[in-house]
Amino acid sequence: MTDTTTGIKHVASALARQTLQNNELTRPVAGVKPIRLLPWLQVVKIGGRLLDRGATAILPLVDEIRRLLLEHKMLILTGAGLRARHVYSVGLDLGLPVGSLAPLAASEAGQNGHILAAMLAPEGVSYVEHPTIANQLSIHLAASPAVVGSAFPPYHHHEFPGSRIPPHRADTGAFLAADALGAAGLTVVEDVDGICTTDPNGPEAGSAELLRDISAAELLAMDGPLPVDRAMLETMANARHITHVQVVNGLVPGRLTAALRGEHVGTLIRTGAHTG
Ligand SMILES: Nc1ncnc2c1ncn2[C@@H]1O[C@H](COP(=O)(O)OP(=O)(O)O)[C@@H](O)[C@H]1O
Ligand SMILES: [Mg+2]
Repeated sequence: MTDTTTGIKHVASALARQTLQNNELTRPVAGVKPIRLLPWLQVVKIGGRLLDRGATAILPLVDEIRRLLLEHKMLILTGAGLRARHVYSVGLDLGLPVGSLAPLAASEAGQNGHILAAMLAPEGVSYVEHPTIANQLSIHLAASPAVVGSAFPPYHHHEFPGSRIPPHRADTGAFLAADALGAAGLTVVEDVDGICTTDPNGPEAGSAELLRDISAAELLAMDGPLPVDRAMLETMANARHITHVQVVNGLVPGRLTAALRGEHVGTLIRTGAHTG
């Protein structure tokens, strides 16, 4: 529809004549809850440290995923592990900025994805790049029960300054993708039972207790080390669809299967999203 009364052609549009910086004005248009694009999708993020263990960890997990292909449509996203940590240490030593380190670490997440996809190739699973996840995930999932991609968000040289280590890593990327797609759920696969009061492999392991159900805000308030990105916890405050994320132990057969069936077998992290 056009308005030609002033002699100038205007496109009639709710946001055309105002700044996008004014929340009061944009809320009636932009405050509506977005639709769920893929409400049946299960997003599974697999940690790089688990994949770093090689065949002993990967083969049983691949067997479990093979069986899950019969039950769920999945976007499997892989993180970075040891190789990214090494590249961070070399790059930091050389003074490389965060925007140079981010794509280097992201490339390891991609390598891990290629490895996992190769193991699942006979089942019709392939590795796909970010643009394909953004634009053609649906058709890939119509042809296959699952696809594998990199969990790293593609901030690359646009990574936010502040920390010298890229703050938006695999957990953040997996959460952003799952929430944007309106997925049925996100499960984070670790090499520990879930999130504990302190590192269960650290010097105070004896006092580590599993946190079974906790909010993202409560976790952010904890000072100690965590096995998930703090940036993911911050992002959770503004979640639109994903109400909770479960962190499970991928070294224990059956845990991922149980989590995808809705069972409580690890740490549930509650987000700021409301149901309904
Ligand atoms: N509070 C905590 N709860 C559980 N694990 C923790 C905690 N703090 C540190 N960790 C450690 O984090 C490790 C996982 O490291 P992480 O960087 O998350 O790996 P990945 O890259 O595979 O996700 C666990 O093996 C555990 O030793
Ligand atoms: Mg982790």
